[in-house]
Amino acid sequence: MPQDALLRLEAVSKCFPGGVVGLDSVDLDIEHGEFLSLLGPSGCGKTTNLRVMAGFETPTTGRVVLAGRDITSLRPFDRPVNTVFQDYALFPHMNVAENVGFGLSLRRVPAAEQKKQVAAALDMVGLGDKIRARVAELSGGQRQRVALARAIVCKPRILLLDEPLSALDAHLREYMQMELKRLQSSLGMTFVMVTHDQTEALSISDRIVVMNKGRIEQIASPAALYDRPATRFVAGFIGTMNLLDARFVGRDGALLRYLSGDLPLELSADANALATDGQMHTIGIRPEDLVANPQAGAATAPAKINSIVFHGRALRMHASTAGGAALVIDAPRQAMQPAFDVGDIVHVSQRPGASCVILAA
Ligand SMILES: Nc1ncnc2c1ncn2[C@@H]1O[C@H](COP(=O)(O)OP(=O)(O)OP(=O)(O)O)[C@@H](O)[C@H]1O
Ligand SMILES: [Mg+2]
Repeated sequence: MPQDALLRLEAVSKCFPGGVVGLDSVDLDIEHGEFLSLLGPSGCGKTTNLRVMAGFETPTTGRVVLAGRDITSLRPFDRPVNTVFQDYALFPHMNVAENVGFGLSLRRVPAAEQKKQVAAALDMVGLGDKIRARVAELSGGQRQRVALARAIVCKPRILLLDEPLSALDAHLREYMQMELKRLQSSLGMTFVMVTHDQTEALSISDRIVVMNKGRIEQIASPAALYDRPATRFVAGFIGTMNLLDARFVGRDGALLRYLSGDLPLELSADANALATDGQMHTIGIRPEDLVANPQAGAATAPAKINSIVFHGRALRMHASTAGGAALVIDAPRQAMQPAFDVGDIVHVSQRPGASCVILAA
């Protein structure tokens, strides 16, 4: 691991009273100026992880290190870290401007300067006109944006965001995602964002941490996570992936050849990938990397179409092979010539040039 991580978790575990494991031996390096997302299903430990970083939870074992300094027992308010909580936690007796300006008052920022910064932060979240409103008068999405403005106005070194956009409608959410990304890169701040929305994580993160049952399954860039998920869990969580049991049937230079039932699959392997004849692996292949052909060919397997669903630019077919394997195939709409119908037999092949991945259990 590099020595200059901004924030490092070293073998951090958190056991709650009653024996619930929130975090299980988590190692994580967060770099200066990166946008990192924690992604995973409900209850996998995302909030617990964020609270350990913020100092609201003390790890049962392990260390939290900030720029080389052990801060495991440092109180939240002594850390250069701000948090946007999952439930916003606004001060109900203060109006919007007072909520946003609270941290600046604590830091004794002069009133005129405070006013300017509060207005700028509220403009950023699209609430410039609500500056005098009381918290009780705001909608859920507006409260969430006030919480965001309150956290960014102090420009902390690290901003921890727990589902900061969950209450917003799709349109506003996409706009705020771009605003967050712009803010983070223009200020050079480090953002750690919890989300269970994979599209959100894929669209704004530099790196994504996929969590499962208190553990880290994989840390990778959005593209690497999509193209090369390491485990079945990650493959199933990020986008749609066909998970096929396949038998290794031989090597062809850098290509490994597999058969899943009658369907031939090939993937480019690094030199040290080991496989022996007849060995079974789980192979992951994306729906857009399978082709439904009208005619049989040398490298096709027949499958019956069970359903066809309209997906905008693509049509998604659910099909089953003679061996009983379920396949999901995305066909660009204009490529559906001739048009297929439910009940038709199609001849499925791997799209030329498309790769697939071997997945660990
Ligand atoms: N204070 C607590 N006491 C006991 N158990 C807790 C406590 N906080 C969290 N847990 C448990 O730890 C596990 C992880 O919880 P956590 O809140 O980190 O999940 P999460 O990934 O943020 O989920 P969500 O997406 O639903 O917010 C869960 O099983 C939860 O019930
Ligand atoms: Mg949570």
